[in-house]
Amino acid sequence: MEELSKEYDIHVNSQRKSDLDEWVAHYRSFAIEGQTANYIPALRNAHLSQLGITILEPGGTMIKSGDWDVPFTLQSISKVLSFIAACLGRGISYVLDRVDVEPTGDAFNSIIRLEMHKPGKPFNPMINAGAITVASLLPGDSSHKKLEFLYELFENLLGKRPTINEEVYQSEWQTSHRNRALAHYLKETNYLESEVEEALEVYLMQCSIEVTTEDIALLGLILAQDGYHPVSKEQVIPKKVAKLAKALMLTCGMYNASGKFAAFIGVPAKSGVSGGIMALVPPSARSEMPFQDGCGIGIYGPAIDEYGNSVAGSLLLKQMAQEWDLSIF
Ligand code: DON
Repeated sequence: MEELSKEYDIHVNSQRKSDLDEWVAHYRSFAIEGQTANYIPALRNAHLSQLGITILEPGGTMIKSGDWDVPFTLQSISKVLSFIAACLGRGISYVLDRVDVEPTGDAFNSIIRLEMHKPGKPFNPMINAGAITVASLLPGDSSHKKLEFLYELFENLLGKRPTINEEVYQSEWQTSHRNRALAHYLKETNYLESEVEEALEVYLMQCSIEVTTEDIALLGLILAQDGYHPVSKEQVIPKKVAKLAKALMLTCGMYNASGKFAAFIGVPAKSGVSGGIMALVPPSARSEMPFQDGCGIGIYGPAIDEYGNSVAGSLLLKQMAQEWDLSIF
């Protein structure tokens, strides 16, 4: 993103940069404890040991390390964007009437609670069931129009049209049996506002948007600043929606590891099975804090654990949170 780099390649805190370089080099090797998301054929062959990070601060500091510029697909990180888009297009209460804000403690693609809890309202927009419902709520009476609404938000935030990784999209479209089952169930219980195939197309296309760590660090920074864009200097997301998105990231963003993330890392974060983590540190009243004005963090490390979270990326974030005292608690 040319404009962003122009704005940001201004200062680099060299001590933090050398700390990060050291940690990235160290945690790369931990990828061996995870696997690429092999249930999506096109993600199977990612390079396990890649690890990269971008940190953006509102005042113009940008720190990058490792494989920060390797493109990857948003996958579940897109659920934050589509939730924000649905709130912008339909209003918060309309959306929350159709999807709740409670963590599940179950796997991201679990179907079990839809049937166990009546009337079958999805627990939150960060699990697949909730995200498929949210995809169906986007404004527009076709998948094309719904996606256009989402792409316009993306462009407004990142200053560029999204690129879709067609191979990843096709590969998931052909193998997404669990998501199809979830969508059919949601249709039967009236928690899907579009046809099944239309909601799936929107959901899987949003998952296939390609980004780098720099892009998701900027999304994180905008949320850290309650929806205020550091480059355009405009309030691009209403404060209330940004706060809701951050609460959902903290409580549900890392799936059934969200409790551990809150306890041992303590910052709002959202993962995707491609190995991305979008995280953020809100501004702090404590003047001795590093990142006192807050920051956005984008991480990529494609080996994921049993919860669907990047192994090396989570360890790197934990190290940063401990060394730099980033926890919000
Ligand atoms: O629907 C799926 O299974 C994927 N497109 C996205 C899942 C995902 O990223 C879960 N994240 N950790």
